[in-house]
Amino acid sequence: MDINNKVVIAVVGCGRIANNAHLPAFQQMDNIRVKYACDLIESKAQLAKEKFDKIENVITDYKVALADGEVDLVYVLTPNFAHYTVTMDALKANKHVFCEKPITVNYALSCEMAEAANKAGKMLNIGVCNRYHKSVEMLEEMNRQGKFGNLYHVYCSFRNFRSIPGLGGAFTTKEQSGGGALIDWGVHFLDLILYILGGAKLKTLTADAYSEMAKDMKSYKYRSMWAEDTADTENGVNDVEDFIAGHIRTDKASISFNGAWAQNIDKDEMFIDFLGDKCGARLIYGKKFEVYMGDTLETVTFDYDIPDMYLCEDKAFVESTLTGVKNRNHIDNILESAKLLDYLYQSAEKKEEIAL
Ligand SMILES: NC(=O)c1ccc[n+]([C@@H]2O[C@H](COP(=O)([O-])OP(=O)(O)OC[C@H]3O[C@@H](n4cnc5c(N)ncnc54)[C@H](O)[C@@H]3O)[C@@H](O)[C@H]2O)c1
Repeated sequence: MDINNKVVIAVVGCGRIANNAHLPAFQQMDNIRVKYACDLIESKAQLAKEKFDKIENVITDYKVALADGEVDLVYVLTPNFAHYTVTMDALKANKHVFCEKPITVNYALSCEMAEAANKAGKMLNIGVCNRYHKSVEMLEEMNRQGKFGNLYHVYCSFRNFRSIPGLGGAFTTKEQSGGGALIDWGVHFLDLILYILGGAKLKTLTADAYSEMAKDMKSYKYRSMWAEDTADTENGVNDVEDFIAGHIRTDKASISFNGAWAQNIDKDEMFIDFLGDKCGARLIYGKKFEVYMGDTLETVTFDYDIPDMYLCEDKAFVESTLTGVKNRNHIDNILESAKLLDYLYQSAEKKEEIAL
């Protein structure tokens, strides 16, 4: 905190999520300063500074920010493989940390990060931003109020036509990403489902994963590629799944899902169905939801604003560092979904059901 009682932030990683989500949110927050924007590629940090006038300094070594006693919070917005190291270093330097999703590349390291944060007495939040999406908040409340009746099953589909991101780069290299469609997209879907179910505990699960669409990276066809600047189809690696399907039993509803970064079906699907005996709801991912009433056979559509979920999660994080109260995105509340991803990958690898 500085002498004017402003919370001082350092941003590590000035790529897409920094530029599209957190830096625009910081511009709208009065009680913070962005003292450092750090990127290994100086021009990316410099470009961010030109776009966002809150950024005060550009650096390429995040340890400069960690050594600055005025810095309170570090935002870790790097690719997945760097989450662990930067977060652990920041906690050691006595900083609160916001780390983008997924926590890191596996569950064991995620637990180490949670333990380190709790030992240091510092907040560590994870960017599962959908927990701050207005539709998710409303569905969570509906379930808590028993509006679904017996919510017995949740089904979700996150499937796109031929849209593997950054083929051959960090996204498709398991050592750097932790996995493919599941850890990149599924993390949001499964995490928000566990959140809406109200802390469901995992019982058994099974999954099958495939990497079929870009076995030969050079001949892979696509219309557009997210993170194309990181692709390396000549010399890179593609050892992660482009399709995954699974079934999960919990102490609450069962969950089934299909996820595809790429498939030979040219119909994109991004939705979650909540099936209760009184009513059901379909959430169109990132957008609004509809409720289908079992007694009247009516479809109920709600009219509500959807505030910027990144701004909501960033404001809530800053607030939690000031009050010392852990919020819904605290790592302690995300570990169950990290565990879920890990065991789904284990099940797919062993080709058998796992009991937890
Ligand atoms: N919450 C969401 O909806 C959402 C959406 C997209 C991405 N993400 C997550 O955000 C993270 C970043 O994704 P992105 O798409 O912005 O990636 P990106 O590649 O666009 O940006 C990452 C930046 O980090 C920099 N970097 C890497 N290691 C660094 C280090 N040690 N020090 C300083 N800079 C470093 C890179 O040079 C790069 O500029 C990923 O973990 C991703 O899963 C979350």
